[in-house]
Amino acid sequence: MRRASWESRALAGGSVLLGCLLGLGAARADTRPSYVGAGACSASNCHGSVVPRRDSKLSLQNEYITWYKQDRHAKAYSALSEERALRIARRLGMVSGGEASSWLDGAAHPERCLDCHALDVPAAERGPRFDVRDGVSCEACHGPAGGWIDRHTEAGWTPERSIALGMVDTRDPARAAEICLSCHLGSATQRVDHELIAAGHPALAFELDTFAASLPAHWTEHEGNGGWFRAGPWLVGQAVALREAARHLPRQVRGAGWPDFAAYDCSACHHELRPESGWRQDRGGVPGRPPWEESRYAVLSDLARTVAPDLAGPLDAAVGRLDRLTREGRDGPELGGAAEALVTVAEQLVVRARRTELDGQGVARVMRAVVSDAHRLAYAGFGTAQQLAWGLDSLAVARESLSGAPPPATRAVAGDDALRAAIGRLFDQLTDRARYDPARFARDVRDVAGKLP
Ligand code: HEC
Ligand code: HEC
Ligand code: HEC
Ligand code: HEC
Repeated sequence: MRRASWESRALAGGSVLLGCLLGLGAARADTRPSYVGAGACSASNCHGSVVPRRDSKLSLQNEYITWYKQDRHAKAYSALSEERALRIARRLGMVSGGEASSWLDGAAHPERCLDCHALDVPAAERGPRFDVRDGVSCEACHGPAGGWIDRHTEAGWTPERSIALGMVDTRDPARAAEICLSCHLGSATQRVDHELIAAGHPALAFELDTFAASLPAHWTEHEGNGGWFRAGPWLVGQAVALREAARHLPRQVRGAGWPDFAAYDCSACHHELRPESGWRQDRGGVPGRPPWEESRYAVLSDLARTVAPDLAGPLDAAVGRLDRLTREGRDGPELGGAAEALVTVAEQLVVRARRTELDGQGVARVMRAVVSDAHRLAYAGFGTAQQLAWGLDSLAVARESLSGAPPPATRAVAGDDALRAAIGRLFDQLTDRARYDPARFARDVRDVAGKLP
């Protein structure tokens, strides 16, 4: 097929030029907003042709239709109105309630999402046909078109002249890869850090050639863009990706919450990771920061409430502070001070515990206190669940001995009454840390509650 030259196409297409200009109005170039919006490129004789125009030298002219119908980028904004997005936003504390369809309107710092899921440029730079709901639209990759849109169809016009007026030279895969990676890896303002990932955002991975092909590509080979064909984009994409990752690292280090675990190999920590690991994501706190191992506290706090109520408040406060500082990865005097404060409260509890002698009723009260806290204790994690099972087992044995019955030969497992059997079942849940299921454990603890006298 013979391809008409760019100039002759433009000349032959006088109506093309006129039609595109009409869509824009006649504002002067220097006052025109920089971003015209995808709608301004959508006319059927511009880039909105229903079928590809193979006779056109630089453009298939159906780019808008391809983008609108097939490209995920056209849905990037509406993806924020799905349940998954709302779940992420809730876990990040951007919203407290809200509907999937409207949470973004009332969210704290919506730019945290919009910077990648839309072309989120200042209002003053948006033209009359610009619509943020267009998502990742043409100008997110091709640059603001205000300076050249009405001229790039002129006879004799060249891509170089558009580039001088603000168009991104996407003919060069290295330049394009940089643009892709600003969203598919991150930039100074666009971040998918471990906090976002732990809140449910997909982890970001990218390979230029594969990703460009699956847009799908809305371009064909012509003079000047040969770098996009054969192994070119793969090779260039690899090198640019490494360079951009190396550029991104110092930003990650400077960002809040370093170490950002998203900079590390996921499998180093997550030996088993499923897309929705459920319970950990919903237990509160800052997503993706390791909670302090609280198994030494969680059951004890219920014990304190029962036998030393005046110490329960100071205990909760001291642990809360230490937990916050360790999650934030703090060290130094602040952490030392918080640890010291906890030592003081714990020491008071030691003194009180040594003076406390539980009778049969006291034991029963403590057992009821912990089992009625089943949900919180189960979701505090495996270590706490273990403490709870051990504690209930100990208390059950103590209760029996306080009642004067002969001690059983072995603990829990051999228990012959319904209570001991129910406690024994808790241990079945604790044989494999990786399979620990807090919902089931909490149910089993409530079952113990039903057997308490
Ligand atoms: C650094 C850029 C960036 C930021 C910031 C960002 N995202 Fe994303 N998001 C992406 C990319 C890229 C994908 C596609 C990932 C893939 O499939 O490779 C994506 C995918 C998603 C998906 C899955 C979409 C689908 O079709 O399956 C949801 C939901 C989502 N993001 C929500 C959010 C929310 C909510 C925020 C703000 C709290 C946010 N994103 C912030 C870049 C970003
Ligand atoms: C995700 C980024 C991205 C988006 C969004 C995007 N493009 Fe592209 N576009 C590219 C890349 C990369 C090329 C390829 C290389 C090139 O310039 O030849 C390209 C090529 C083109 C070309 C061919 C130019 C040429 O020299 O070969 C046209 C025309 C075009 N795009 C128009 C559009 C229009 C119109 C829209 C919106 C409806 C759009 N693009 C949306 C990235 C994008
Ligand atoms: C302004 C930010 C932004 C830029 C620039 C960008 N993307 Fe994306 N990209 C996204 C977001 C956000 C999504 C997720 C959209 C969704 O699923 O709703 C996405 C999704 C994709 C997907 C679909 C992934 C999947 O899992 O289905 C591909 C492929 C892709 N982008 C390729 C590219 C390429 C190639 C470039 C550069 C030429 C690029 N993107 C530039 C933000 C961007
Ligand atoms: C240095 C260790 C570390 C690395 C590396 C790490 N994470 Fe995490 N991740 C954590 C911790 C700690 C939590 C919080 C667990 C909790 O709340 O119980 C977490 C939580 C999560 C969660 C929430 C669900 C769950 O299972 O707790 C997801 C999803 C997740 N990370 C994904 C990733 C991905 C994907 C990567 C790689 C990009 C990654 N993590 C890298 C330590 C890490």
